[in-house]
Formats: sequence, structure tokens, C-alpha cells
Amino acid sequence: MKSAHYRLDSSRSTLLLEAPATGTAGTMPRILYWGTPLPNDERPQSLARALTRPALQGGLDDAVPLTLSPSLVNGFPGQPALSGHRKGRNALPGFPDVSVKEDDNSWTILAKDTAAGLTLQIVISLAADSNVLAMNTRLTNDGEADYDLQWCAAATLPIPSSHEEILSFRGRWCGEFQTARRRAPVGILMRENRRGRTSHDSFPAMILGTEDFNETTGAVIGAHLAWSGNHRVLHERLPDGTRQLQMGELLLPGEVMLGPGQSYQSPDVCFTFSDEGLGGLSSNFHRFLRSDLLPPQTRKPRPVTLNTWEAIYFDHAPEKLSHLAKLAAQVGVERFVLDDGWFKDRNDDRTSLGDWVLDEKKYPHGLEPLISEVQNLGMEFGLWVEPEMVNPDSDLFRAHPDWVLHLESLQEPTGRYQHVLNLTRPEAAQYLFDSLDALLKAYPISYLKWDMNRDLSHQADGQSFVTGQQTKALYALIDRLRESHPTVEIESCASGGGRADFGILRRTHRIWASDSNDAHDRQSIQQGFSLFFPPEIMGAHIGPMHCHTTGRCLDLDFRAITAFFGHFGLEADLSQLSEEELSRVTDYIALHKDWRSILHSGRVLRQVLEDGRALLFGVLAQDLTKAMVSYAVMEQTRDALTAPLRLPGLDPDRFYRVCAFNQLSNPGRRMKNMPDALFDGSLILSGRAIAGSGIQIPVLDPDTALLLQITESGMAYVSG
Ligand code: DGJ
Repeated sequence: MKSAHYRLDSSRSTLLLEAPATGTAGTMPRILYWGTPLPNDERPQSLARALTRPALQGGLDDAVPLTLSPSLVNGFPGQPALSGHRKGRNALPGFPDVSVKEDDNSWTILAKDTAAGLTLQIVISLAADSNVLAMNTRLTNDGEADYDLQWCAAATLPIPSSHEEILSFRGRWCGEFQTARRRAPVGILMRENRRGRTSHDSFPAMILGTEDFNETTGAVIGAHLAWSGNHRVLHERLPDGTRQLQMGELLLPGEVMLGPGQSYQSPDVCFTFSDEGLGGLSSNFHRFLRSDLLPPQTRKPRPVTLNTWEAIYFDHAPEKLSHLAKLAAQVGVERFVLDDGWFKDRNDDRTSLGDWVLDEKKYPHGLEPLISEVQNLGMEFGLWVEPEMVNPDSDLFRAHPDWVLHLESLQEPTGRYQHVLNLTRPEAAQYLFDSLDALLKAYPISYLKWDMNRDLSHQADGQSFVTGQQTKALYALIDRLRESHPTVEIESCASGGGRADFGILRRTHRIWASDSNDAHDRQSIQQGFSLFFPPEIMGAHIGPMHCHTTGRCLDLDFRAITAFFGHFGLEADLSQLSEEELSRVTDYIALHKDWRSILHSGRVLRQVLEDGRALLFGVLAQDLTKAMVSYAVMEQTRDALTAPLRLPGLDPDRFYRVCAFNQLSNPGRRMKNMPDALFDGSLILSGRAIAGSGIQIPVLDPDTALLLQITESGMAYVSG
């Protein structure tokens, strides 16, 4: 085959593609190289020759390359990127007619198989500075009969043999973003999600790394599917060592039946690589989100929030709300969010979803008195909604029982006593738009907490599965609302972190990372969350002392320090706090406000210490002048003494003052005396010393934490 080569460069990487030369019949293109920038005069032909593999005894007579769309048509024996047929025919399109259109930082690859009546379009773009590569795929039916599409990978990436380790995700309600590490097995390692939303248990991402990878070292590749519906994420290792990563939307049987002229468009997959371990990977994704994907309001200071859920639940007594608002303003809250329970007859979670009108029994004078009070106290007002859902006990369901997703003549099991509205029905989507638009027009609401509290089970319009269309209809509804109300911010919540992905994040401003406000659980949830998402979009609240989802009883400092780095807030009945506790909360909020411009623009630092018995989380300013880190103890340390904390990343030649923000409530339990140096503000060390010999951390009790401020001292250190 005569080949042509294409090259894309960003400040951080080079991408090389090999495709059939224009006008010649060939196979699908393949990625020759994606890595740190190559010299300008590197010759792709030489690279291609250097990578040419011999044909193997017992195999086909030509070596089979891994293309952008691996398929049996070229003899590729593994998982194909495309699977579909027209009544059993056209199941193996060859796409001999390939063209590559080059733009500044992207390629559009068009591959046609006229005989099969199919066109495949793959778009690949390289972000300018963040080292993120995005890919998506579109299949068009040019034939005269329907094409039954079963799988169309959004992207296929070759994985180098050096990246032997796989980090994948698991989780559950109140326990999202947990990681599992293992060696890449022979065969397929696949995660499939059929829950109709991103899910708590199968975050659509995978990380591959060299054996030695950790937070700061080792080479890693990370991939994430920007999609909020069903998905499939797979890694495959073939017997000859070829390895591929594929991600895409999982299609249910018959879900995508392409009529003549119709196309299927996949979501994007975002890839990055780093030679600086998981820290480098996160930094790339965070930079990409900040510069290319998140709505611009997320660059404004994130207002400290009070959410009413764990404070009052459904008990919206006016005096309680008023008292809560006053206390919230007193401690420094900037946004007051009225959670579930404000609409008609919603006194528990069994009724009224769908009826988006105010409960006049609870609010006889409308929402105005509460909103005015909140605003007069200097706070913004936000409101909870769960638009996609309907309770059978609601006026909406009674009027339109046919508006729910369902399979004809079958009874869908309820989830939290509710069903899902079929947003692909224009009248249902219009009803939701009108209801939300009316609320946003009637009241000065600056923020919606958009909740979604059940998996989809009967994901159909009566006859056929519509999961993907439902996801796109949700995106369209949010987009339309944002267009009409461009200043309103939206939080994506799905029983906590059940809908956290780059697809929803294009159009929302923060994610409720978990329904668990338990700081112990949150520590690992937030570590996992932060691999892909930056702290400013991570909803994180100080919950009640007795955690409502676990029953644990946790110290205020531990709760505050754990929530401190994210989009910070409170979710507790503040009237239960003593004056002394309110004053400590006030101090944490004031400190957060001082630091948030750094916390929400810097580089995330994580460490898993003592096999997870202690966790470090922090943020380093991009200009290396400051860092804030928390050291949290999850379990008693193994050794009697905690090892000194070594923190790489600061400027080795600058001096920094290191000082703990919080005092320890029980300093005497395992120590006879306290290492004072950390607490009196006199400790000045070079970045080299902080990374090299480290800082002795006191022996902390489990479920306590220390918050360390590290600031450039601005002067050379003079001994004595
Ligand atoms: C589930 C959410 O995750 C909670 O924060 C709260 O908003 C409840 N729903 C309200 O029903």
C-alpha cells in the first residue's frame, strides 16, 4: 500500500498518522506515534519502517496492523470497532476509499465503502496546551435499506507494551470513584454500563501505566468517555501482544437502526498521557477542562454554599429556614440552596416529582420572602429540581401516564418511587422547559441543583430502546435552558456522583461528587474524583457531626478540611452548632476565600501513604509560590511514629514557611509532646528540604486531619 503521513503538534505532544496515499485503495489509517514532541524533521516513513512487524508463522501472510477501526476485514482477530449489519449483509465493510482532511489542530478522516453503503468519519483533535487528544466517530448509512448498528467505538487507541498496569473504576452509592489496579490480562477486560446514566459503579474511564507508576512517577495513559448514558470501556490484549483501548456508547438491541441517509454520532473520548504519573495525568485533564470544556462561569470564584438537604430535609418551616439563612450568612456563606421539598405536596420522597409548582401550604406568600431574606443577607439563591423524573403519585403522571420511558404492556420497577420521563417525546421536553423557564423567570434563581435519582430500566419509548436519544434530549434541554438563562449555574447530581462525566460537564458548572458527607468516605471518593475533575467543580460540604449516611461521628476540623479544597459548602443544621463551632466554621470559610483562587487554578497533589492509612490531598499554585495540603489519617498508623511528610513539586531553591492551620483536638493520645515547629509559624524550609527530608507530622488519631499552609517566605533563610 502506498502511504501518506500526517502530523499534528501541540506544545506537549506529536501525533503521527499513516493513511493510504490519496487516490489509492487501502485500509483504515493507523496511529504511528503519540508521545512527547518529535523533532520537526523526524521522518514518519522511517518511523513506519522501524515499527514494521514481521508476519508470524501460523498466522496470516501479512502482519495485521491495529488501525483506527480494527476489523476482521483486514484479518484483525480481536474486538472490532464497528459491528452491525443489513439483515446479515454488509457486516464487514472494508472502507477502501480513505481521505484525510487537515485543519489547524485536527483531522477529519472519511472512509467510504460504496459497495457496503457505509461511510465512517473519524475526527481527531489535539488540544493546544493540555495534551489532550479527543476523538469521535460517525457512521452514515448511504445504502437503501436500514442498517442495524450494534457497536460503534467512539475511539480506538493502540496501547504500548510498556503500560502493563490497568487502573479502572468501581463504586456504589455513597462510595463513588474507587479504583482497582491490576496487571493487563490476556484477552478483554471490559466494563459495561446499562444503567442509562453514567453510574456510580462504572465511571467511564481507564488508566494504563508502567509497572512503577504512582502519583509522581511512571508513564500513564488516561482515557475518558464524555457521555452520560450507557457505555462500554474495554482493554484487549491479543496473543501477539497487540493491545487496544476502545470506548463508546453501549447500544441496546435495535437501539440504532440507521435508515437510508441517517447517521450515528458517537460521543468524544478524551485521552491524555503523562510521564509524571497520575499527578501529571490529572494536571492535563484539569487544564483541558479549564481551558476547553467547562462553562466560563466556573472561572469565577466559586461561592461558598449552604445546601438545606441534611439540615431540614422536607421540613421547610419558615422560621427554620430563616434562622438557617441568618446563620449561613453569619459564617460567610455566599449561596443558599433550597433542596428537595419546596414543591406541591412534596412532604416525602414518594410523591409530586413532575409537578414543578410551589407548595403553597409551605410557602403561602411564594418564594419571594425567603429569596429576599437570602439576598438581603448578601447571598445568592439556588433551587433543587429533578426534571427528568415523575412519581406515579403526581398530577403530571395522572395526566400523562404515557410520557414515561416504558416497554409496552410491561410494568417498570420504580426506583425511589419514581419513573423516568421520556425526553425524546417533544411534548414532555417542552413541558419541562416551560416549567423550569417559568421558575427561572418568576424568581431570581442563580443556580439549579439538577438531580436524577434512579437508574433507567425500561429504557424504551414503548417499542424500541431510546437510551442514547434520551441522553441527547437531556443535553438539548439543558442547552436550551442555558441559552435562555445564560447566567444560571447548574449542578449535576445523580444520587451523588452518578452522573459525573465530561459530557454533562460541557453544560453544567459543578458535580455533586457523592451523597456521602462523611469525611472519612469522602477522602477516597475525592481522590478518585480528582483524577479527572478539578477541585472547583467538586461539590464538597461540611456535613453534620453524626454523618447521616454512615452514622460515623466525625470531628469538625476533619469535616471542614476534607471539604475545604472543593467547591466548598455546608450541609447541616447550623442551629445545632455551638458558638465555638460556628466560629471555627467561619474561620475555615474565611481561609477558603483567601485561598480559593489558588485551590481552583493550581495543580492537584495526592499521595496515598502507609498503604492507604493516611491520605494527602492538596493544591500547588501554578507559580509555585504556595501550596495547601491536608494530611488525613484513615486508620491508626502501622509504626508508632508517623513518617515525615515529603512533598515534591515546590521550587527546590525557594524558601517556604510551613504552618498548620488547625490545632489538634487530642494532641496527647499517642504523643507525650507535640512537634511544635509546625504550629508556631516559625518553620522555614527550602522546597528541596520539603521534598527531601520532609516534615515530621504528629501522630494523629484516625479520622482527623491536619491542614498545612505552605507559603513562599519571601526572604532568604538566615540561620539562628
Ligand atoms: C439526592 C441528592 O443527591 C441529595 O443531595 C438530595 O438532593 C436528595 N436527592 C433530595 O431528594
